[in-house]
Formats: sequence, structure tokens, C-alpha cells
Amino acid sequence: MRVLVINGPNLNLLGKREPEVYGSKSLDDIMTMVKQRGKTLGVEVDSVQSNDEGALVTRIGACMGDYDGIILNPAAYTHTSVAMRDAIIACRVPCVEVHLSNIYSREAFRHKSLTAAACIGQISGFGGVSYILALEGLVTHLKSAKKKK
Ligand code: DQA
Repeated sequence: MRVLVINGPNLNLLGKREPEVYGSKSLDDIMTMVKQRGKTLGVEVDSVQSNDEGALVTRIGACMGDYDGIILNPAAYTHTSVAMRDAIIACRVPCVEVHLSNIYSREAFRHKSLTAAACIGQISGFGGVSYILALEGLVTHLKSAKKKK
């Protein structure tokens, strides 16, 4: 089973960026943690990060046939990107949306996610652990979908 974690804009700055909101761990720290959890679940986990909306859309589309699942933190594009929402639907790969912060307890413009409805679920507010919870939920979903086939 293969899962791709896709991280959007400014997440490369994690650790230095508003640590009071996003925590002190770097993106590398968090991705290492997710890959380790993947190993214990028997899942191969890859990760990418881009600040570019077009590159993210292309990456999501390219998952078709290559990955069984996607974990996506669209970051600021969560609240603006119809193109990313359409890419998630188009690629037909089950996707879980994650956020480090609780987007519903922050500014009103963060309360709306354009991408979440295209996903099987969303995890928000647990810092780096949001990614681990997303992986566990995604793998459970993929295993039960496989059984039904
Ligand atoms: C974020 C929340 C978004 O609103 C914000 O623009 C981000 C990070 C999170 O992980 O909490 O860049 O996706």
C-alpha cells in the first residue's frame, strides 16, 4: 500500500513559522514521524511540499494509478482553491485533509474548506499528530475498501 503526503504553501517554514500556532517541529520532523508510523502499519509513505498551486494540482492528478491514498494539507489553498478540489475528485484516489491548527477556532476566513468535501475525511487541530491520525484513518478506510472488493 502506498500513500503520498502532499503539503501546501509555507509548510516548508514549519518550526520557524508562528510556532505558537503551528508548533516547533519542522516539516521534516513531522514527515519522518509519519513515515515511521507507516512502516509499523506496513505502508510506504512518500511526501512532497510545494508553494505553487499549479504544481500541487499536477501532483494530485499524477497520484492516479501510483498511490492508494493521499494525505493533503492544502494550507492556505484550503480556503481558495477550486482547482485543488477538482483535482482530488478527478484523480479518484481517497484523500484525507489535515491541518495542524484547528481551522474552526481561528479567523472566519479559515472556517470554510473548499477541499474537504472532496475528501473522505478531515483532521484538524492536533499539530503534527494530525498527520498520524490521518494516516491511521486512511489506512483503515483503504483496508476495509479492499475487503469489500
Ligand atoms: C493550515 C491552516 C491554514 O488555514 C493555513 O493557511 C496554513 C496551515 C494548518 O495546517 O493548520 O497554512 O493548513
